[in-house]
Amino acid sequence: MSDRENHERRPVLLTRPLAPEVEAFLRSHTDLQVPLEDRPLARSELLARVEGVAGLLAMLTDRIDEEVLEAAGPSLEVVADHAVGYDNVDLAACARRGIVVTNTPDVLTDATADLAWGLILAAARRIAEGDRLVRAHGPWEWSPSFMLGREVTGKTLGIVGLGRIGQAVARRAAGFSMRLLAQSRRPQPETEDALGVVPRELDALLTESDIVTVHVPLAGETRRMFSEKEFRAMKPTAIFVNTSRGPVVDEAALAAALSSGEIAAAGLDVYEREPEVHPALLGLENVVLAPHLGSATVETRLAMGMLAARNLVAVLHGEPPPTPVGSAGE
Ligand code: DGY
Repeated sequence: MSDRENHERRPVLLTRPLAPEVEAFLRSHTDLQVPLEDRPLARSELLARVEGVAGLLAMLTDRIDEEVLEAAGPSLEVVADHAVGYDNVDLAACARRGIVVTNTPDVLTDATADLAWGLILAAARRIAEGDRLVRAHGPWEWSPSFMLGREVTGKTLGIVGLGRIGQAVARRAAGFSMRLLAQSRRPQPETEDALGVVPRELDALLTESDIVTVHVPLAGETRRMFSEKEFRAMKPTAIFVNTSRGPVVDEAALAAALSSGEIAAAGLDVYEREPEVHPALLGLENVVLAPHLGSATVETRLAMGMLAARNLVAVLHGEPPPTPVGSAGE
């Protein structure tokens, strides 16, 4: 092995087993350590295993903060997050140590937009509730008034966060002849025109929309962005869907709004204290609860793993990574 190749095979920790193709790629460029068991590393295991690594390929369930960086030591050059949302990584702490942080935008856009639409339709048409009824072998039969849901076609869809995923959700609405509203951090008139989306401030979007779907990153200003006031502003017939990050929503306030009839239904893929779900939500029929499946397809998870691995290897080779954090939209 040449000096250069030797230098490139630096120690790297992958915190959870990934697809064989991803691990093979990492092994061909690095000295890879992967836990044998497919479960989140306990904090103490992460702190012990990270010592002396040059690269860390982390999951969204790993909190990468000052303590982890300190345990890794000065050899750490890159944290490649296996997610588009990188709220699990302390960016300021990484910047102070000159550590590059990367994420996996684009490759999960379609899968996540599809899931958002799955939740919209499931909540509007009471699909999960109907499934529970059938499985419970309870008495049911067709009747003109049996389990009526709400039409999606022709309604107003309010998209909060018009980044890549929000845009993909808007494109999918074309088949439902919807009026599209969007609230975005920055004006993007060309994108809005191309999608047929009308920009709105959040307050107006909430009062006008029949369905509100959230696609914002978790940050200081988006934490608990949806609480009592926001649910009160929505129509009593409204459907609320969140596939972004759980702490964007005050779950107790959402449960109260759903049980009092302030809003009609909800679909959630993410939770404030994941994997725990607020007990008040668990008891409600008018909320569809998915276990963080936004990017969970075979194709997308392979693409995420490969992108995270390519990011990590690029940095260790002294090259610009394909997707450093901040390179893509929400
Ligand atoms: C992400 O990448 O942020 C998604 O939530 C993963 O499923």
